[in-house]
Amino acid sequence: MALVDVCIHQNLQSDIIIIPAIGHYIVNSGGKRFRPLLCLLTARLFGYHGERHIPLSVVVEFIHTASLLHDDVVDSSDQRRGSPSANGVWGNQASVLVGDYLFSRSFQMLVSDGDMAMLSLMSNVTNALAEGEVLQLSRTFHLEMTEAECLEVIERKTAVLFKAASEVGAHAAGQSPETVAIMAEYGMCLGVAFQLMDDALDYMAEAEDAGKPVGHDLEEGKITLPLIHAMQGDAELAVRVEEISERGCYQEGDRAWVRQRVAAQHGCDFTMNRAKDYAARAKSLLPNDVDMDVRKLLADLADFSAHRPY
Ligand code: FPP
Ligand code: MG
Repeated sequence: MALVDVCIHQNLQSDIIIIPAIGHYIVNSGGKRFRPLLCLLTARLFGYHGERHIPLSVVVEFIHTASLLHDDVVDSSDQRRGSPSANGVWGNQASVLVGDYLFSRSFQMLVSDGDMAMLSLMSNVTNALAEGEVLQLSRTFHLEMTEAECLEVIERKTAVLFKAASEVGAHAAGQSPETVAIMAEYGMCLGVAFQLMDDALDYMAEAEDAGKPVGHDLEEGKITLPLIHAMQGDAELAVRVEEISERGCYQEGDRAWVRQRVAAQHGCDFTMNRAKDYAARAKSLLPNDVDMDVRKLLADLADFSAHRPY
């Protein structure tokens, strides 16, 4: 992970000083480096001791960082990881453009790696990620959203990058297509668990702990699983959500009222239980004829994704 940090900083260098300024601001802002860790551990699971997975894990982190820079503009969010978001400090234009820089730098790094299979994998993943965000946008205030539709958005906007991280690690370690596919599925399940927790935390956490605004998803028109589940058992809540949707914003007291009704219907418990199911499935996919210490760490990462407090 120390080598990952060195590689990140090397690849943020540019003579256009706002690029390293924003780049360093966001990569040093206390992110968990979850995706690079997943990539390195997956490679190690199969005994890989080369160095190729270091820049490849940075590619995954840069695509993630670029997507956050864009996401905070799209969501009009002014807080990320407990600090003002990059768009809150430098404005929307600079955030979008530096996101583009990180995104294109990722592809330069993939070309340097020189493996067409890796380039194909990462270009498909990035395309799926962008599709996932557009799909989510097209389902803004889609009040009839089903659990299956909600999971489709989650897989496409979030889980694909976790899938890519473990897929890249297994591929770099020279594993067979079958094993790479199993590790891809592990990453996908872990990623779904991670986003389901994110969706539960939006209705549960305090903003200071989450490091970003909470109770924000509904106001943005994101109909997530805690709310879907709660609306099924609470007709009054469904009516209030429809009113919020027609108005397009909260009125005084809406946020706290909705949060309380979601809690009364156990919307977050339901969502967290789904997250735990996905984490259990991820763990069950881990192969046995591998480095058992690393396997344990990957199992712990799956558990963390479904239990994390932030
Ligand atoms: C966070 O979701 C955002 C994502 C998981 C993906 C964002 C992707 C894009 C904006 C498009 C792709 C961009 C590039 C450069 C390829 P969230 O808003 O639910 O979570 P949050 O609460 O952390 O903001
Ligand atoms: Mg967002």
